[in-house]
Amino acid sequence: MIITTGNDPIPEIVQRAVSLAERTGCNYVPRDNLSLPKLVKRHGEEEVLVVLQEAVRLIRPGMPPMEFHPSMGYVRAKRILKGETDPLLSAADMIPGDSVLDCTAGLGTDSLLFSVYGGETSKVTALESSLPLYALLIEGMSQYTTGKERVNEAFRRIQVVNSDHLDYLRAQPDRSVDIVYFDPMFRVPLTDSASISPLRQYANGEALSLESVAEAKRVARKTVLLKEKALSGEFERLGFTELLRGSSKTSYGVIKIGN
Ligand SMILES: C[S@@+](CC[C@H](N)C(=O)[O-])C[C@H]1O[C@@H](n2cnc3c(N)ncnc32)[C@H](O)[C@@H]1O
Repeated sequence: MIITTGNDPIPEIVQRAVSLAERTGCNYVPRDNLSLPKLVKRHGEEEVLVVLQEAVRLIRPGMPPMEFHPSMGYVRAKRILKGETDPLLSAADMIPGDSVLDCTAGLGTDSLLFSVYGGETSKVTALESSLPLYALLIEGMSQYTTGKERVNEAFRRIQVVNSDHLDYLRAQPDRSVDIVYFDPMFRVPLTDSASISPLRQYANGEALSLESVAEAKRVARKTVLLKEKALSGEFERLGFTELLRGSSKTSYGVIKIGN
């Protein structure tokens, strides 16, 4: 993957693109008014991440572009700030201040909800094994600005790490985080999930392993949580109790960690 800017960028944007390239180990390539397909071809890469003044976009020629955006996450975040409950937080049994390890960051929406609710004293770490998605996330989380300052602050507090979750979990001490969360790509995709479709081309689609769940149980103090399609066999295979939610197409599965 290469990193570039829009045409005629201001120096601040070039600096942001250069820093992002350094942080992710990707090459920064000046745009030089070239089209993105030409730029990608010239550098023999598959995709390009474009840093813009108010957006960051991942582009693979011939595929739909993907922009960092909290989508429904912003609506849910505003509800949480108003004191309303959210099914993710209830399933996790989270209280403000809890620490969360989100093992499958994706678009960062669920991490945002944990961070908004967790508040200033909580710590949310978001793991993403796909390099293009990791790069999109760190730029988006540090720059994306909404009309709500508390949502912006919640984005900035999330620590994004480029790692496979099994490797990361193995390196953590016992009982070192309150909640460990998994939202892997569903074994059978929901055909109408508009926000996940563009992500699929970049995402790690491997099934969650029993070994990762065993490590999560060792690392968690309170809850290990899994999101999957409702009635998925994954809940039973991995030892989670499924919490069915009426007609919802997705469920959360929980493993409670005793004292
Ligand atoms: C369904 S998406 C998660 C969506 C996310 N909960 C959100 O709110 O946007 C799953 C993500 O987990 C990542 N992933 C899958 N397996 C992983 C692993 N072993 N380690 C780290 N990330 C992984 C995928 O690359 C993908 O981006």
